[in-house]
Amino acid sequence: MYRYQARYPALPPPGAVHYRQRGDRAALPPLASARGERSMPNTIYYGDNLPILAAMPSESVDLIYIDPPFNTGTTQARTQLKTVRSETGDRTGFQGRRYETTTLGTKSFADRFDDYLAFLRPRLIEAYRVLTPTGSLYFHIDYREVHYCKVLLDDIFGRECFLNEIIWAYDYGARTRKKWPAKHDNILLYVKDPGCYTFNVDDIDRIPYMAPGLVGPEKAARGKLPTDTWWHTIVSPNSKEKTGYPTQKPLGILERIIRASSHPGDVVLDFFAGSGTTGVAAAQLGRSFILIDNNAEALRVMGARLADLPATFVERHSPRSMAS
Ligand SMILES: C[S@@+](CC[C@H](N)C(=O)[O-])C[C@H]1O[C@@H](n2cnc3c(N)ncnc32)[C@H](O)[C@@H]1O
Repeated sequence: MYRYQARYPALPPPGAVHYRQRGDRAALPPLASARGERSMPNTIYYGDNLPILAAMPSESVDLIYIDPPFNTGTTQARTQLKTVRSETGDRTGFQGRRYETTTLGTKSFADRFDDYLAFLRPRLIEAYRVLTPTGSLYFHIDYREVHYCKVLLDDIFGRECFLNEIIWAYDYGARTRKKWPAKHDNILLYVKDPGCYTFNVDDIDRIPYMAPGLVGPEKAARGKLPTDTWWHTIVSPNSKEKTGYPTQKPLGILERIIRASSHPGDVVLDFFAGSGTTGVAAAQLGRSFILIDNNAEALRVMGARLADLPATFVERHSPRSMAS
């Protein structure tokens, strides 16, 4: 019996995901210690990301994607429901059939910070340090905090290292009638060196022309390069991709980022990993991943999602939410 199982029964059992316990330092996976070492195994850390980042070697990660809590001032939660046919059910469906709804469980994490930028700053400084000289950071946020985060990132990376603000536009959910309904997220792209960074333009998935008749059949069949505005559906509530983890991001968004800004064999880091979307996309594209989260539920979800891959689990520091 592993010690973590008694303390954190929510975590997945040992299987293809290999578990190590806190203090098991001699057996910790070797982190890439210098640019050029490409033996980094897939690793999932359970704990506050700041001390874990601080323990990582400089210039050891090629690409970082992060999707921190957006500081919405709430608890982000998703309740999963299961509906089954039942004559005594509480819902009426197609052709008047009765259904009963049962709650499978709720997954949640706190998203409320007294000083959001003070929380982010030391983590982004570490992110800058661990990036390779040709590395990139994608910072996913929304309209409430993006302006403050842009100023913070300009300060850490330098304004000249800002490449893009990507607008991820979607169309789902209720629409307020009191203002323009907000239906987009913002993804800020920074590189460490604006003179030399990875951008594989030919590997990016192409999208259909809006007016294919205007460009000729060959071009229309090939599609066009996406711009900095990405139309992409959210993770559909009925899709196979859906894990039930709140704020799960679509694999399509992560695949586009990883294809464009890393090479096969590179190391991709997500230190607010949630359901592990970055790890799944990285593995599918032949990159290795480092995922960090301090929520036991996130670890359980990503452990299950990545169970077929060789990966090492490390409980590195006492998990403690930095959200107030
Ligand atoms: C918006 S969610 C990420 C969702 C993820 N992109 C996905 O597709 O599932 C943010 C995550 O950051 C984690 N988190 C918040 N503070 C953290 C900290 N100090 N250290 C590690 N993880 C943290 C939360 O537990 C949550 O899972």
